[in-house]
Amino acid sequence: MFYVSRRETFSAAHRLYNPKFSEEENKRIFGKCNNPNWHGHNYTLEVVVAGEINPDTGYVIDLKYLKQIITENVIRKVDHKNLNLETDFMKGIIPTAENIAKAIWYQLVDKIPTGKLYAVRLHETENNFFEYKGE
Ligand code: NI
Repeated sequence: MFYVSRRETFSAAHRLYNPKFSEEENKRIFGKCNNPNWHGHNYTLEVVVAGEINPDTGYVIDLKYLKQIITENVIRKVDHKNLNLETDFMKGIIPTAENIAKAIWYQLVDKIPTGKLYAVRLHETENNFFEYKGE
């Protein structure tokens, strides 16, 4: 089994906020990411596809198609956007890195032409990254 990865980057704004909590609780739980005037992160996304080598092409997946699929289904919806307000697949979801990684998984899982989506890894800061591998 091979694991083939494509890395993409995007910049996006967000605010972590749950209307179930009081203002004080929101501040305590979400800290800096609760800033009511938004703030941004430079995210790095890694998409990993698992599969066998196609003997005719020598590829598991043609990375130019994987790049295109990620760009169309994810990057153009998140890059330089407000994740709370502008990203259709994040509507009504608290945009933590965990939730963003999970939502990106569901944007991609049925669109991989060869091999299978194996992992979505999202780096929110240099030291904090999150990985989703499906249910
Ligand atoms: Ni944040």
